[in-house]
Amino acid sequence: MVSYRVGYFVGSLSSTSINRTLSRALIRLAPTDLTLTEIRIDNLPLYSPDFDADYPPEARALKDAIAASDAVLFVTPEYNRSIPGALKNAIDWASRPWGQNSFDHLPAAVIGASIGQIGTAVAQQSLRAVLSFCNARQMTAPEAYVYFQPGRFTDDGEVTDESTARFLGDFMNEFRDHIERVLTVLPRS
Ligand SMILES: Cc1cc2nc3c(=O)[nH]c(=O)nc-3n(C[C@H](O)[C@H](O)[C@H](O)COP(=O)(O)O)c2cc1C
Repeated sequence: MVSYRVGYFVGSLSSTSINRTLSRALIRLAPTDLTLTEIRIDNLPLYSPDFDADYPPEARALKDAIAASDAVLFVTPEYNRSIPGALKNAIDWASRPWGQNSFDHLPAAVIGASIGQIGTAVAQQSLRAVLSFCNARQMTAPEAYVYFQPGRFTDDGEVTDESTARFLGDFMNEFRDHIERVLTVLPRS
């Protein structure tokens, strides 16, 4: 059976991140032919073009982790109606040096959880615009704006609400199909 390696980003540095909890839920609910591995962003310095000639080890590890993935998944909060700075910084690192954009043709999906009912919709639109410029092959539907209500998730990512579990499981199944479609025409070398 073919299986796919998905590198996932959690866009929050919070030790109590609800998006990390969401990522645990997605791992639980993903089809068995997806293997999810976190790509860390918390150790990266702020990007500057001054580093382009000699990336620091943390940034090289980031690019290596993306290169080792068949697809990437972004699980992110919304900060002030946009992308959290730490996540945008990681994307900037991965998109450079010029001509070595790690996201080129890479299957990608976006999801996020918020304590407000808007469920990260505005941040996801910002992120989608960035990923478009980076030429990632994004899953456009389904969208997933998760209103994080206490009681629907345990800390280790068990989803206690049946319709939420079904929705998130469907999202991951659709992502799997999207990865397969993209890699059929754009195989990873
Ligand atoms: C700097 C900051 C900005 C925020 N801006 C938004 C926002 O624009 N929209 C929203 O729904 N929630 C916003 N929130 C609340 C987040 O939804 C909430 O803090 C959530 O727990 C963040 O996700 P995390 O727990 O994964 O870090 C903001 C929180 C912070 C700390």
